[in-house]
Amino acid sequence: MIVEEFVPKKYLQPVESGSFKWQSPSNIALVKYWGKKKHQIPANPSVSFTLDHCKTLTQLDFQKKKPGSDFDFDIFFEGSKKEDFKPKINTFFKRIERYCPFLKEYSLQIHSENTFPHSSGIASSASGMSALALCLMSIEKKLNPNISAEFFIKKASFLSRLGSGSACRSIEGELVVWGKHQEIKGSSDFFGIPYPNHVHTNFKNYQDTILLVDKGRKEVSSSVGHNLMHGHPFAEARFKQAGRNLADLNSVLAEGNLEEFIKIVENEALSLHSMMMSSMPYFILMKPDTLEIINKIWDFRRQSSLPVCFTLDAGANVHVLYPEKDKYEIFEFIKNELVAYCENGQYICDQVGSGAIQLPMDN
Ligand code: PMV
Repeated sequence: MIVEEFVPKKYLQPVESGSFKWQSPSNIALVKYWGKKKHQIPANPSVSFTLDHCKTLTQLDFQKKKPGSDFDFDIFFEGSKKEDFKPKINTFFKRIERYCPFLKEYSLQIHSENTFPHSSGIASSASGMSALALCLMSIEKKLNPNISAEFFIKKASFLSRLGSGSACRSIEGELVVWGKHQEIKGSSDFFGIPYPNHVHTNFKNYQDTILLVDKGRKEVSSSVGHNLMHGHPFAEARFKQAGRNLADLNSVLAEGNLEEFIKIVENEALSLHSMMMSSMPYFILMKPDTLEIINKIWDFRRQSSLPVCFTLDAGANVHVLYPEKDKYEIFEFIKNELVAYCENGQYICDQVGSGAIQLPMDN
């Protein structure tokens, strides 16, 4: 699928070489994306909190070369050359070649690092793909200085989506919607947009403590998971449910209704995992300690009446979400009762952030 506005007409100035560096955050979905159509079009709309501390830093060095038939690039992760990362980046470049025709004219060196442990079970595809897409947009801006800041961001999100769907929600903050929804003006299947409606101060600096229950690699990749939604007996109902949950979240976010927020967010997390459990082949990504933590959170919430809840990604780790105003009491509970279930006692304290930023180049 070609989205005409993102195909460059012609570049205005020649560029021999250069370097750009971006840092881009991870994000955690409140309404989950699970299931896609061709060309990375989501089967349902989703919304996420952009994170603040879990980030990828990517530097892209580029040098003009004779145009060839293949992409010419090397990728280094935390200082070591990574041949095994290349096929994914190659697929990404193939998907975006129409939109970035300069790609085959340069030799590229990609240097990436994460602020969170690589083997933490936290997906780095959202932060990694969005950081790379932003570096590519910086090249485009150099070739065509007339592009607007608005277009830059929109196309960066569009390109990120073609790398990894949820990456398109990592460019901006604090809440980002991806996928067409009739109650969200400007929403699109092609890129993420900052959530445009009113958000109550209860959700300002919302906290996310990520409990690392299982730091191993994911047993099922998200692309395999998305594909299993084709022909899934509950797929249509699930896609409708996500749309309804997003509509309901609209008023919950405006009113600051934490009780309803919790219901929607936990329902989404468990619905995502129930899709995995009822696909063919079926699988369970939660671990026994994931369930222990969920039950502890429910007990604590009943006893304390504090608005703490959980959400899950496609893995065993638990994201514990809570408002800033209750952070001391809830963090005490997390340290005293939940950290014991983490692998080697490891967890990450994060909160809602404001999106990617360009970094100065070291001299
Ligand atoms: O972006 P992908 O293809 O890795 O899919 C991510 C899917 C979930 O993280 C499970 C949900 C979401 O909306 O982020």
